[in-house]
Amino acid sequence: MNKTVQKNLDYKKFVVDSNLQYFKPHASKIEKTFADEISFSLDRNSKFIPPKFFYDKRGSDLFETICSLPEYYPTRTEIQILKNLQDELPSFIDESFRLVELGSGASVKTRLILDIFTKLQSKTEYFPIDISEILTESSEQLLRDYDSLHITGIVDTYEGGLEFLKNYDDKKNLILFLGSSFGNFSHSDGKEFLEKINSTMKSGDLFLIGLDLVKDSEILESAYDDSQGVTAKFNLNVLSRINDELDADFNLNNFSHHSLYNKEDQRIEMYLKSLVNQSVLISKSNLLLDLKKNELIHTEYSHKYTLEQINDLLESTGFKINHVWLDDKTYFSLTLVSKN
Ligand code: AVI
Repeated sequence: MNKTVQKNLDYKKFVVDSNLQYFKPHASKIEKTFADEISFSLDRNSKFIPPKFFYDKRGSDLFETICSLPEYYPTRTEIQILKNLQDELPSFIDESFRLVELGSGASVKTRLILDIFTKLQSKTEYFPIDISEILTESSEQLLRDYDSLHITGIVDTYEGGLEFLKNYDDKKNLILFLGSSFGNFSHSDGKEFLEKINSTMKSGDLFLIGLDLVKDSEILESAYDDSQGVTAKFNLNVLSRINDELDADFNLNNFSHHSLYNKEDQRIEMYLKSLVNQSVLISKSNLLLDLKKNELIHTEYSHKYTLEQINDLLESTGFKINHVWLDDKTYFSLTLVSKN
């Protein structure tokens, strides 16, 4: 353990009890990044807000609500596939594996993988990596339900968490990246990210990635513009977060949720539309933002893939495909890979 702390000097360690500990980056590291990134992303002609900033406590809760909306098929479809994995994943893992999860959120789907691990192992180690403090709540809930579980939570970005993991120890990892969160990266960032995961992995490690597949535009568009307006709230919440954390004065009534499926680029595009000409002060970013009526702030891409594209993407970033699982409508995929 001493070795761990010394190697991860940017992190503060919090030991809750013998089954639960967290590592958090020093506060100054997080705050600086948020203010700087917002000033960089909004002080330009084509404005954007990186989607990772959606996930403060309220944003994470809203996302959990989205996951159970009738229009939002990815979560329930991925759960259906994960249930079918119960008999098949054990042949790929053994007693020596630890489970690592990128973007663990409420760790609901994780339970289906933890069920497999805890059946195979007398002690299961789980390392959730999530930028949101929801991680602390969900970890405590998991420990109530799994006696043999030991959790080390890393409250950080994916990249930070991967770097942390690389420096940690030599134990074999199964890294999970579920929910098609990968689809939120641009193509170039996504490739770089897969290479980063690949370089974090040792030979023998496994990576399981959930990706949403190309399908009918109407199904896609209603999944990102639901009838109850939860996705709209989720999108607008990022402005409340900037108000709270960066001392800004966004008036949420002056913005609306705008989303569309771009068929050519195979992606949902999400924006916040300015409904009036307005100026917004973001104090901690030192920015006075001028927005015109109908001007768009881009907040998210959600890319959709064909099976062939998934194969090419993973192979070109240094992976070997071990298995692909699909649902019966071919809406979603889970691909298990190892380092080539
Ligand atoms: C987290 N991510 C995979 C979600 C998605 O489907 O792209 C985020 C989301 N945005 C709107 N609804 C859900």
